[in-house]
Amino acid sequence: MQKTIRLAAIATALAFGTAFAIATPKTITLPPDGAVLQPSSLPGYAKAQADCVVCHSAEYMFMQPPNAGRPYWDAMTKRMKAVFKAPFDEADIPAIVDYLSATYGNHKP
Ligand code: HEC
Repeated sequence: MQKTIRLAAIATALAFGTAFAIATPKTITLPPDGAVLQPSSLPGYAKAQADCVVCHSAEYMFMQPPNAGRPYWDAMTKRMKAVFKAPFDEADIPAIVDYLSATYGNHKP
């Protein structure tokens, strides 16, 4: 008998819990995700994934001025190599800059 009452109490609690969950839907709007690089079909995307997010997240790309052109991203990429000794191949720079300026700047390839 006692067992039946306990089960009924649990069932009631579960029913209430479900009703509560249905009655209060939660909508969460997240800010644009800058933590990963924006996917692209440009060849520089894979290179940037290998070369540009080893030291910091892609948040840094996302925070740059959206009207920046190719020269800005070219200088930024070279600065990473010259100042912070980013270990990528010099030959990768044009493709990386194409991708970054098209994705995060105003350069339309
Ligand atoms: C060897 C480590 C390393 C690699 C690899 C690297 N960065 Fe950086 N990056 C840094 C450091 C250190 C900073 C400066 C952080 C700070 O000042 O708070 C930085 C800052 C930045 C910033 C913010 C603006 C600024 O001038 O501080 C951008 C944009 C950026 N990096 C882009 C890139 C791109 C694009 C690549 C790939 C080509 C890259 N990083 C690869 C170390 C690296």
